[in-house]
Amino acid sequence: LLNGELPTAAALEAWEAELAEHTAPPAGIKNLLDGFHSDAHPMGVFLSTVGALSTHYPESKQIFDEDNRRTQVARLIAQAPVIGAYSYRRANGLPYVDPDPSLSFAGRFLGMLFGEPGAPYTPNPVLERALDILFILHADHEQNCSTSAMRGIGSSQADPFAALAGATAALYGPLHGGANEAVLRMLAAIGSVDNVPDFIRKVKAGEGRLMGFGHRVYKSYDPRATVIKAQAYRVFEVTGRNPLLDIAIELERIALQDDYFVQRRLYPNVDFYSGLIYEAMGFKPAMFTVLFAIGRTPGWVAQWQEMLRDKDQKIARPRQIYLGAGERDYVPLDQR
Ligand SMILES: CC(C)(COP(=O)(O)OP(=O)(O)OC[C@H]1O[C@@H](n2cnc3c(N)ncnc32)[C@H](O)[C@@H]1OP(=O)(O)O)[C@@H](O)C(=O)NCCC(=O)NCCS
Repeated sequence: LLNGELPTAAALEAWEAELAEHTAPPAGIKNLLDGFHSDAHPMGVFLSTVGALSTHYPESKQIFDEDNRRTQVARLIAQAPVIGAYSYRRANGLPYVDPDPSLSFAGRFLGMLFGEPGAPYTPNPVLERALDILFILHADHEQNCSTSAMRGIGSSQADPFAALAGATAALYGPLHGGANEAVLRMLAAIGSVDNVPDFIRKVKAGEGRLMGFGHRVYKSYDPRATVIKAQAYRVFEVTGRNPLLDIAIELERIALQDDYFVQRRLYPNVDFYSGLIYEAMGFKPAMFTVLFAIGRTPGWVAQWQEMLRDKDQKIARPRQIYLGAGERDYVPLDQR
C-alpha cells in the first residue's frame, strides 16, 4: 500500500524492525488513557489518543520531508494496535501489557490484549492468522467516508496524527465502521432463528435496517464477506461456535431470496460476519470498530502520503449550490 510493490525479504525484515522500534507509545500516553472514565467507549478513547500523539510528535508537522514522514507512518502503524489494546485493557480494568517485538503484528496485538504483564505469550496460530487476514481485508477501500476525511484533513497540511484522528471519527459512525458492532447488537436483539422472519418484515416496513447488508459502491456480494465467512468457520473450530452465527446465516438466506433486498441489490458486506469472529475471539462489540481502525490505519496513511506526493493537490474545498432565501433584511433581536 505504501510503496506500490510487495517488499523483498530484506525490505520486509527492515520494515518489521522499524515497526518494532516505534511500537512503544510516548510515556505520557498511559496517563492520558488512565484519565478516561472506566466505561468510556474504546473508539472514543482510541481517536482521542491518536490525536494526542500529535502533541508528542511536533516534528510530524514536517509533512513534506520524506524521511520524517516515513517515521510518522511507522509510528502510526506500530502504535495503533498498542493504543487499541490499551483502550481495551483499560475498559476491562486490566493492567497494560507491553508489546513483545518478537511476535508478528497480529500476534503482538493479541499478546497485549490477552497476555499477562511480564509473562511470555504464544498466540494461537489460527486466531493470529484470522486477525491478520481481517487486518489485510480492512486495510484500504478507496474513497470511503473515513479515507475521504483523512485526505480532506490532510489536504490542509495538518499533521498525520490529527488527520488520522479525524478519519477515525468518521469510521466511528454506525453507517461506516460502526456497522460491525451494530450487526452483533442486531443479532443479539433478534435472539433466535425463529424471530428472523419477523425482523425481516420490520426492516421491509422501514423499521430499521438490516445491518451488515448493502454498500454504497458494491451492488453485489462484497468479496471481503466471502473470505471472512470462511475464516469464521476456522475460528469457531478453536473458540467454539458462536450461537449468533445461525441467526446470521438465516438472515442471509432469507434476504438473498427476498425481492426487497434483491431489487435493491443489498448483499452482505464486510461487517456482516467480522463481528462474529471478533466476539468468538473474546472481544466485546464496543471494541470492533477499533479493530477496523487498526486494520485501516496503513490504508489511511498510504492515501495521505499519495495525496501529499501529488503536485496538483490543493486543499479540499467542495462548493455548494445555495438554495436558501434571497436577500433578507436584518431583524433586531427584540423584534423577532
Ligand atoms: C451502506 C449503506 C449506507 C449504503 O447506502 P446507499 O447505497 O446510499 O443506499 P441507500 O441508503 O440509498 O438505500 C437504497 C435503498 O435500499 C434500502 N437499504 C439500503 N441498505 C439497507 C439495509 N441495510 N437494510 C434495509 N434496507 C436498506 C434503503 O432503505 C433504500 O430503499 P428505498 O429505495 O426504498 O428508499 C446502506 O446500505 C446501509 O445503511 N447499510 C447498513 C449499514 C452497514 O452495513 N454499513 C456498512 C457498510 S460497509
